Amino acid sequence: MKVLRTAASLRNWLAATTGKIVLVPTMGALHRGHGALITRARKLAGKDGRVIVTIFVNPTQFGPKEDLSRYPRPFAADAEMCRTLGADAIFHPTPEVIYPTGSSTTVEEHTVARGLCGASRPGHFRGVCTVVLKLFNLCRPDLAVFGLKDYQQCQVIARMVRDLHIPVRLIFAPTVREPSGLALSSRNIYLSAEERTEATALRRGLLAARTAFGKGERSAHKLRAIVAKTIAAAPLARIDYIAAVDATSLEPVVKMKPGDTIALAVFFGTTRLIDNVQMPKGGMTR
Ligand code: PAF
Repeated sequence: MKVLRTAASLRNWLAATTGKIVLVPTMGALHRGHGALITRARKLAGKDGRVIVTIFVNPTQFGPKEDLSRYPRPFAADAEMCRTLGADAIFHPTPEVIYPTGSSTTVEEHTVARGLCGASRPGHFRGVCTVVLKLFNLCRPDLAVFGLKDYQQCQVIARMVRDLHIPVRLIFAPTVREPSGLALSSRNIYLSAEERTEATALRRGLLAARTAFGKGERSAHKLRAIVAKTIAAAPLARIDYIAAVDATSLEPVVKMKPGDTIALAVFFGTTRLIDNVQMPKGGMTR
């Protein structure tokens, strides 16, 4: 497995490869959720294709009061996981490679990115779109794999890819969870033992809403209230938002239909966790 640090070394490596390129963009601090994305990428690439994992803590998607400086960067452990799971290369650039001095171009999606995390984290999705497009341009992937825990991110990137005619096929992989239901996230390491236990309320609340939907409840207001009530029973939790939205446009809905999504963000201290659930389309979904 190659570790590539510059655009030139990446270009040379790509020039020498044949077969499909499958990209897994990450900010590192890899956990089993990322592991599932890499494994999926390996399968998609087959024996002739190549899997590139990018590890880059992208400064432009962090707000001024967010955790950029303390964001975990365990590169050796990350590289070991990538190697074990069959990645062919890691692209691990410095900020100067991604943002050359004087960089003055950004990419912004204006509709799907507006609400939910976009409202709470101004500029976040501009940072995400900008870096993801740069990574697409640098790595030229045929396919790119993202995790559905970051549901809005998936939809924003899908819209960007459609709108800008980017020649990549997006694969969205299901959220990987702890047995407690807590969605795996690099930020879970910030949680105290007590916060970690309480954070299981997010999944419980979302599942309670999904069950109520399965029994016929369609009011977005009532379904959101079910989630809020479960989370309110966790005294350390502070709800940022609970939104009931159309699955693709992320426009708020009043009456929920199969496929619509409830997405949320909840603070435990300064740690902000996100999760989501889709209303079943027949059988139960994620
Ligand atoms: O999901 C992430 O880890 C990041 O937002 C991404 C897509 C790698 C862009 O920095």
